[in-house]
Amino acid sequence: MRPTEDPLSLPAKPATDAEEDDPSTGPDGSIGPTGRPKRHIPEPAMLERHGPAKVLAICNQKGGVGKTTSAINLGAALTEFGRRVLLVDFDPQGALSVGLGIPAHQLDQTIYNVLIERGPNLDEVVIRTTVEDMDLLPSNIDLSAAEVQLVAEVGREHALLRTLRPVIDKYDYILVDCQPSLGLLTVNALAAADGVLIPLECEYFSMRGAALLMDTIQKVQERLNPRLEITGILATMFDPRTLHSREVMARVVERFGDIVFDTVINRTVRFPETTVAGEPITRWAPRSAGAKAYRALAREVIAR
Ligand SMILES: Nc1ncnc2c1ncn2[C@@H]1O[C@H](COP(=O)(O)OP(=O)(O)OP(=O)(O)O)[C@@H](O)[C@H]1O
Ligand SMILES: [Mg+2]
Repeated sequence: MRPTEDPLSLPAKPATDAEEDDPSTGPDGSIGPTGRPKRHIPEPAMLERHGPAKVLAICNQKGGVGKTTSAINLGAALTEFGRRVLLVDFDPQGALSVGLGIPAHQLDQTIYNVLIERGPNLDEVVIRTTVEDMDLLPSNIDLSAAEVQLVAEVGREHALLRTLRPVIDKYDYILVDCQPSLGLLTVNALAAADGVLIPLECEYFSMRGAALLMDTIQKVQERLNPRLEITGILATMFDPRTLHSREVMARVVERFGDIVFDTVINRTVRFPETTVAGEPITRWAPRSAGAKAYRALAREVIAR
């Protein structure tokens, strides 16, 4: 590194944004990366009016599986189909906020204040992102206190639902980026959601936690939120060159069947780059395979 280079400065834009192929976007009926023939996904219809939003919790108690990356990039891809999106950072780490270039640790008001204090209006806390039609409800470390504070509350599992209610009609999708745990915050996300989107890393151990996650989802369905559905399982960090990745994929499809999205997210350094750049991949490298994959995912999500 040259001495003048600031290691934390933004990387230069990729030198080329050459067209890359994404196997998820091949013709209908061809064998996709899941090993199944690809289903026909219709072109999303344009909307005449907006709302009420479908709330999707992006959830997996395993860390580093692509929850935050999927929230940012699915959200941005949905706006390309004319959908209005609110991203909810529901992790005290604030990675979603930071990944969109927002210095979350400096914010005075975050989701914590609306959730616990019920002081500020949601409109005063929601931030516009650089992506048109995509807003952010930011979070930072303050949210870590919420879990403890909520325990003593009546209706503690429905705090997020109450928080989001005033803006449901403004958006088409509200994506809630959960923290890697199955604690009270995640239960709140599931209680507020219409659907769960589960990113699953194509790694041997990823199947282990899946049973516990499914069990939690089922309990929330039975006890708190009967409308909750599993929107889909998204295979992430897939490396088509390794037998290991392909084997894990085959097991995931065997175990979960049709709820596994045809779209698969490959492992690529482009995603860590976008985090540093503070932009979704659909803008950072719009013609990359990663951007195409999240667009394909957006189409599947709209169709489900
Ligand atoms: N498809 C991918 N290929 C390579 N790296 C990826 C991919 N998706 C995400 N990453 C990188 O992996 C790391 C973890 O991703 P991400 O933060 O999205 O996971 P997470 O599930 O939200 O993690 P946590 O559980 O800590 O919240 C990040 O550095 C991200 O840039
Ligand atoms: Mg995350």
